[in-house]
Amino acid sequence: MFIKELKLKNFRNYKDLTIDFDERVNLITGQNAQGKTNLIESLYISSIGRSFRTAHDSEMIRFGEEGAYIKVIAEKEYTDTKVEIFLKSDSRKAVKKDGNTVRKTADLLDNIIIVIFSPDDLRIVKDEPEKRRRFIDRELSQIKPAYFDSYMHYRRALMERNSYLKNDKIDRSMLDIWDDGLIRYGALLMSYRKEFVKELSEISGNIHKNITNGKESMSIRYDPDIDIAGDINTQQEFIERQLTASRENDIRRRTTTRGPHKDDISFITDNINVRNFGSQGQQRTSALSLKLAELEIIKKETGENAVLLLDDVMSELDEERREYLIRALSENQIFITTTDIDDSLMRAYPDAKIIRVEEGRIV
Ligand SMILES: Nc1ncnc2c1ncn2[C@@H]1O[C@H](COP(=O)(O)OP(=O)(O)O)[C@@H](O)[C@H]1O
Ligand SMILES: [Mg+2]
Repeated sequence: MFIKELKLKNFRNYKDLTIDFDERVNLITGQNAQGKTNLIESLYISSIGRSFRTAHDSEMIRFGEEGAYIKVIAEKEYTDTKVEIFLKSDSRKAVKKDGNTVRKTADLLDNIIIVIFSPDDLRIVKDEPEKRRRFIDRELSQIKPAYFDSYMHYRRALMERNSYLKNDKIDRSMLDIWDDGLIRYGALLMSYRKEFVKELSEISGNIHKNITNGKESMSIRYDPDIDIAGDINTQQEFIERQLTASRENDIRRRTTTRGPHKDDISFITDNINVRNFGSQGQQRTSALSLKLAELEIIKKETGENAVLLLDDVMSELDEERREYLIRALSENQIFITTTDIDDSLMRAYPDAKIIRVEEGRIV
């Protein structure tokens, strides 16, 4: 799959832009704050309907304007897919696929598959658990729409329960209603996550071994907040038992203290936890392996090569890891943003399309 064309109107600092892309490598260059990340952000929205940078759609509308328009045309197996996003400052955004309104995000997800890799992702091993959960949730949602559905149900029950818990007087029978949702969807989330992490671990473990020339092995461990069970029914019982046990504490703390919304994953190399005891190099190699594993899983699940956006990440990798990355990405369309295109990038990609950005214009 690759992105052929992009059209923007009043998106961030782009007033009006129409551009087509190379089906392999696109190098987006320019000084700081010119619009490099804005450009790839607009591509990313066509994949999941939202930004990787902000949860507030109106931030992406050009200052002083009332709306923004994004059109992305991608080609897969000789068929075009057109995704259009209409952002408005005073109402919800509208999304269209091939001219038809898309009502639920879930219906957009398996069209244009894009993976972003930024310096932030290089820190994922070390960062707070929330980042790792978001990674798992996002990736699983992209490859398994049913996961996204359970995730949204779980999240709604959790948010409603938490907001009810802010009250001074709590009617315990009210909590039962949300607990039912947490039990039902939480058990599903946990079973999907368990399978996914297992697969991630195998694939990224192999990649890690290759990057380190066989010197290091790495695995990823699922660290669920509530014990994992063998089947869905038992899992539901485990969650129910935990919710009952922590109910009084939840009321005191005014929030839902336990459940899959507290899950985490750990990276283990040679029996040490990379988060606490790994070198920065090991943390980066683990993060890189994770990202590359993600692409492999997408390929396996959807049959498609995802489009990869590399935002300022090349300059943060040393020569060895950079070369590995370049070799590993021989089949994906890639967009690389960088302030300068150095010799090693030119050597790696002599045929790349070079896009120079200056103040929201391509020059
Ligand atoms: N809604 C917006 N309207 C107009 N300009 C914006 C908007 N949001 C961000 N910008 C501008 O975009 C620029 C940053 O673009 P960005 O793509 O992040 O830069 P970089 O090239 O460093 O990746 C800044 O000059 C910022 O003021
Ligand atoms: Mg940037």
